[in-house]
Amino acid sequence: MAQPLQNNIPAIRAFFDQLAGHWDATVSPRHGERLERILRRLPIAAGERVLDVGCGTGILFPMLAKRVGETGCIASVDLSHAMLLKTSTRIAGVMPRPASLLLEADITLSPFRKGVFDWVFCNSCFPHFEDQRGACDVMAGLLCPGGRLVICHSESREAINALHRSVGGIVGGHELPDDGTFRTMVRRAGLVLESLEDREDAFLLIARA
Ligand SMILES: C[S@@+](CC[C@H](N)C(=O)[O-])C[C@H]1O[C@@H](n2cnc3c(N)ncnc32)[C@H](O)[C@@H]1O
Repeated sequence: MAQPLQNNIPAIRAFFDQLAGHWDATVSPRHGERLERILRRLPIAAGERVLDVGCGTGILFPMLAKRVGETGCIASVDLSHAMLLKTSTRIAGVMPRPASLLLEADITLSPFRKGVFDWVFCNSCFPHFEDQRGACDVMAGLLCPGGRLVICHSESREAINALHRSVGGIVGGHELPDDGTFRTMVRRAGLVLESLEDREDAFLLIARA
């Protein structure tokens, strides 16, 4: 019989709440540069609706905003209240600004209407899901027909997994699964895998609804 999942959400929220104040100073400047490079490869168009899952301090927001423009819409969701406050400050400085929504929630509880997003980004967040298959199903369900799920990191899978192991504590076992597990998860979620890359400067999965 499958083991019941533990509910580590409060501890994960507390972990990221206490990191929020110095998150931007802690992450390498390469994080933003590499994410921008990933986004340049994606055909994000003006007017599109984007969800940023685990938005943190909102690093993706300005990059997405310049692509979707004033007619687009960006929803940012995070467990951590402190992270969302940082995102809110960042958003205030972005002009022109798309329609924006900030939501403090656990994405695995599916807090959005299904089938509405052209893009669902899960940037530097996937390892933190306790039920990774369930999270993949939820994110896939939020896409409109033809929409894309993007799971990305600005480092390789090995580097991300090693980082979490070295930090330990609540994130100690938070890892990106292997390619086979990702392929199965994406297929079972009803998506078509378009790209799965693991390089020193990026982990990138793109799958289409
Ligand atoms: C490593 S940080 C990355 C933040 C940001 N995406 C970046 O690249 O700087 C992971 C973020 O995911 C959030 N998170 C983790 N599990 C989540 C969940 N189940 N639902 C929503 N957000 C979650 C955390 O609170 C944290 O802010």
